[in-house]
Amino acid sequence: MNFRGRHIISIADFSREEILHILQLAGELERRPRPDLLAGRLMATLFFEPSTRTRLSFEAAMHKLGGRVIGFSDPGSSSARKGESLADTIRMVDQYADVVVMRHPRCGSARLASEVSRVPVLNGGDGANQHPTQTFLDLYTIAKDFPQLVAGGPALTVGFAGDLKYGRTVHSLVAALGHFRVDLVLAAPRGLELPEHYIDEARQAGLKVTQVATLQEAVERCDVLYMTRLQEERFPDPLEFDHVKASYRLTATMLAGARQSMKVLHPLPRVNEIAQDVDATVHARYFDQAGNGVPVRQALLGLVLGAL
Ligand code: CP
Repeated sequence: MNFRGRHIISIADFSREEILHILQLAGELERRPRPDLLAGRLMATLFFEPSTRTRLSFEAAMHKLGGRVIGFSDPGSSSARKGESLADTIRMVDQYADVVVMRHPRCGSARLASEVSRVPVLNGGDGANQHPTQTFLDLYTIAKDFPQLVAGGPALTVGFAGDLKYGRTVHSLVAALGHFRVDLVLAAPRGLELPEHYIDEARQAGLKVTQVATLQEAVERCDVLYMTRLQEERFPDPLEFDHVKASYRLTATMLAGARQSMKVLHPLPRVNEIAQDVDATVHARYFDQAGNGVPVRQALLGLVLGAL
């Protein structure tokens, strides 16, 4: 399987076999570090939107493989501020770096960047569209607790709760789960439901999709509960945001009705949708999930740079 020079823009561009290959390599890199794998290589991180985990885990991944990093996390400090187009920015950066990781608020921006770039572009999130590298680490995290996801076995029930309309991590993960034996349970505040076309695609892929009215119902039905933050910055109407922000808050008390093995995931950052008392329960997996970003992004960098 050759990934050399490949862009990572949308999870829809990956087959089941390719996803499994990435997860397997991530596991190998976690068990057996390769501190010189990308020595002499340079990664540029272009973050036009805030990030903690995606940018820092990509940078940690590159450093741990012996590579180096340049970039910006504040677009106001780049020449985008002076009106330089994204395409021109990419045409410059691809002369400096061997790989580009980019986050941008506009849907489709990563695809546009890949069309003009001479080096691989890895999408670190484009608007409400896609966040494919998050999806690989989400699948890696689920498979650690539930190996049947990748090894075959009884269907897993994966619930999604919160803002399913604007959450790009949800959109990417729902698409990826179409490759596996999974039942979906969806719990969203009114107006923030998963867009119909994602539901249609999941059903076409053979997934059973159930929409439930309350977060509690999702808690009691799932093996994995994927919580999301309300994406305040994507709400066209602040009044709409105020109306729903208090809903869908998970507390430790609510977990009394969950299966003992049930795991709570969240791409983070959380705001108030998971109470802090959940952190100490056996169900919390979101901090481990964020940590899994390092080996998974190591695998992706090694692959697109032709080192794995
Ligand atoms: N999960 C995630 O994308 O986190 P950041 O916004 O901190 O990168």
